[in-house]
Amino acid sequence: AASAIPKMPSALTFEIRARCSITKARASVLRLPHGPIETPIFMPVATQASLKGLTPEQLEAAGCRLCLNNTYHLGLKPGQAVLNKVGGAHKLQSWNHNILTDSGGFQMVSLLELATVTEKGVEFLSPHDGTPMLLTPEHSIDLQHSIGSDIIMQLDDVIVTTSPDDARMREAMLRSVRWLDRCIAEHMKPDALNPSATYAERQNLFCIIQGGLDLDMRRECAEAMVARDTPGIAIGGLSGGEEKDKYCAVVKACTDVLPEGKPRYVMGVGYPEDLIVSIALGADMFDCVWGTRTARFGNAITSGGVLNLRNAKYANDFGPVDPDCNCIICSPQDSPARPPLNNSLSTPSYADTNYSAKGLGISRAYIHHLAAKETAGAHLLTMHNVAYLLNLMNKAKQAVIEDRYPQFLKDTFGKWYNGDK
Ligand code: GUN
Ligand code: ZN
Repeated sequence: AASAIPKMPSALTFEIRARCSITKARASVLRLPHGPIETPIFMPVATQASLKGLTPEQLEAAGCRLCLNNTYHLGLKPGQAVLNKVGGAHKLQSWNHNILTDSGGFQMVSLLELATVTEKGVEFLSPHDGTPMLLTPEHSIDLQHSIGSDIIMQLDDVIVTTSPDDARMREAMLRSVRWLDRCIAEHMKPDALNPSATYAERQNLFCIIQGGLDLDMRRECAEAMVARDTPGIAIGGLSGGEEKDKYCAVVKACTDVLPEGKPRYVMGVGYPEDLIVSIALGADMFDCVWGTRTARFGNAITSGGVLNLRNAKYANDFGPVDPDCNCIICSPQDSPARPPLNNSLSTPSYADTNYSAKGLGISRAYIHHLAAKETAGAHLLTMHNVAYLLNLMNKAKQAVIEDRYPQFLKDTFGKWYNGDK
């Protein structure tokens, strides 16, 4: 039972600074071990401790202060011994800002056909040499301790929401709660680098609510996990192709029963429209590979919708990728680019960065020209897409602060769907 578990310390503070008077949107300051961030926030995914095509400095210049790494990938390569030797993932990738790591189970089940889940953990065959391996809740947390991420995720049992097997869904939900208890026990061990404290004093463990599309199961899971009192709470198992109204009902059912005073993270979401709708439903944090992946297919996310710059019509379009964007890619060469930092809530904030750069003045025509064969085109577009999503979150935050979130939703959707392309 949860009462048998000692109270877990927290290595974060979360302050809600503004609320929308109509929707459940909120704007907050989340202080993490590697500095403050403001929510709503989008977290770019740097799977292998690198965001495909970007250097850490470029990611920082785009305004990112919290990115994602994956325990599964880092545990395989470079592996725990190297992580311990170098002193964790921040040092490995020269990243002095915050890192969140996913626990690994979801990546394994989604990447490896041969992964099987038992009460012990997730069994899989090594992609390197085919030897059988087992990722347990304890091992996932132990790896995340070696990584040193600011936010670590519990190992969970993830079933796609569209699965018709209700009994398996319920088993996965209950198992995720049991695995959370095992994760907490591991996380409350003495810190190898500082034995007078536990790991929980420098890394924040988040639980992950499961339960598919069944709202009662979601509420039951949320209540069980809230009782465990982790510093933050995630909603998992979504973004698996479920219908939008069902997705929204799940997010709302969860946020309805969650405490106000903790950050809420919807995992694996998503598209720009999902982000701003989920904020209205009371979610604060998001991650998704879509924005960076789609850049590698020549797709630019813009205020007028998604444009495929490989289309022949862009060969003679010498305008910026997105005329409403002030990222380094889109800003004209004669003007300074402003990274999409918005420190309106936390003072002092981002004092560590005096980043300023001249715009590159990249045109749609140039990306079109590069996109066919040059990786440079993908890198430039990745920078813009990341900046776009970070900026979208800052605009959402500003709308909450000024209490005009419903109008922001209306205007933003209007431009995406009726925009001038
Ligand atoms: N990424 C996207 N969805 C999930 C989920 O449900 N669990 C985990 N661990 N990672 C995810
Ligand atoms: Zn841009």
